[in-house]
Amino acid sequence: MKRHKIISLLNTETAAIDILIKGWVRTRRDSTDFSFIEVNDGSCLKNIQIIAEKDLSNYDDIKKLSTGSAVAVRGDLVESKGGGQKWEVQARHIDTISIAPDSYPLQKKRHTDEYLRTIAHLRPRTNKYGAAFRIRSDLSFAIHKFYKDKGFKYIHTPVITGSDCEGAGELFRVTTIEPDKVERRDGKTDYSTDFFGKAANLTVSGQLSAEMFALALGDVYTFGPTFRAENSNTRRHAAEFWMLEPEIAFGDINDNMDLGEETIRHLTGYALKECKEDLGLFGNFVDKNLLNNLENISSSDFIRLPYEDAVDILQKSGVKFEYEISFGKDLQAEHENYLTEKHFKKPVILYNYPKNIKPFYMRVNDDDKTVAAMDILVPGIGELIGGSQREERLDVLESRMDECKLSKEDYWWYVDSRRFGTVPHSGFGLGFERLLMLVTGIKNIRDVIPFPRTPGSIDF
Ligand code: 4AD
Ligand code: MG
Repeated sequence: MKRHKIISLLNTETAAIDILIKGWVRTRRDSTDFSFIEVNDGSCLKNIQIIAEKDLSNYDDIKKLSTGSAVAVRGDLVESKGGGQKWEVQARHIDTISIAPDSYPLQKKRHTDEYLRTIAHLRPRTNKYGAAFRIRSDLSFAIHKFYKDKGFKYIHTPVITGSDCEGAGELFRVTTIEPDKVERRDGKTDYSTDFFGKAANLTVSGQLSAEMFALALGDVYTFGPTFRAENSNTRRHAAEFWMLEPEIAFGDINDNMDLGEETIRHLTGYALKECKEDLGLFGNFVDKNLLNNLENISSSDFIRLPYEDAVDILQKSGVKFEYEISFGKDLQAEHENYLTEKHFKKPVILYNYPKNIKPFYMRVNDDDKTVAAMDILVPGIGELIGGSQREERLDVLESRMDECKLSKEDYWWYVDSRRFGTVPHSGFGLGFERLLMLVTGIKNIRDVIPFPRTPGSIDF
């Protein structure tokens, strides 16, 4: 017999006989002639109420159902006599699939996020984390739908690579050499005996591969896991995170800013419309201003200004920042927060960054001082998107690679793409977990990824 999902039963218009649900007991309350059992199956935030009359053959077993136990319930969907819910299930038979002991950690009381991180294998069973991970699922789907509707092709870029797109050296090595068998040649590790015959690592970005496909299939995007061995234990950095990376063929920096802004506005708007119930939980219990903030982000234009002007605003702000800011320095979280939360009170797109703080692939501007980079900063998060127009001119790219001390031999295929049919193109990376933090109001990146990977932490 087909299992019904609680979400579809609760949203139905008509009563139904002989339905089957399977899920986990949230609470059980007994009265003289029957038990009320609240069951959740993860399909939505709400539980469904089961009425188990005492004449059910295994009523003694049913009265053992504790929080966390698993059940299969056959019965009829009837209009609820009590308040609070439209439908309930009058049970004909309840199968006790498994009984959870009293040591089940998720009893009624509320737990801290910190504690729940220590039981990350159980936390999706709470209302809050169930809601967060349903939103994560919905927004992944929304990304694919949005880009497919725009005619972008989805490219699966490799997870294991030989390149370092961002040039920041935050790489996780991939090797099959036993640590005690590493051979050295000329003072360096000899990778010629390693699996790929070369140094390999987990990707920090799918961009360089995506660019090759943009120059063939037109507009493309990748959406997958990326890895960075950044040893920064902050609330917005993870060692493994998901990134959406669109690449616009024949697109310049303005097209890129347009697409980044449209993506964020669309996805926040999508969550407001399609994830109402789950989002309501976050609006009630995590951040009272959440829905208002999302409404504002989805409906109003973002500020756009050159990096240089942002530095000017920061210098004239009169604020004593921990890190001094001047042209040529990267913005710190405190600067980003000042711009989005105090000065403009909305998302800000900064563009034309100094070339010395940006990677080799960004297009050099005519001033030869700045590159056509753009970051989108949002309140509460800081940098959500980082991107640029790409350097499509062979000679300029080669001299930038020299400046950045990158080997043209190692990146021969990337350089090659500028020899044949090179065109202006641009793209960006959006940190998916940071988007989820924005949408849910959850303050720590560890709480929007199923099993977070951060320095010193690889449990689960
Ligand atoms: O600014 P980033 O480093 O840009 C790139 O990797 C480009 N290759 C993207 C491209 O143009 N295709 O990273 C992009 C975004 C950041 O804005 C941030 O949201 C997120 O990825 N991000 C992280 N998210 C979580 N944990 C980390 N350690 C992150 N590092 C970057
Ligand atoms: Mg960046």
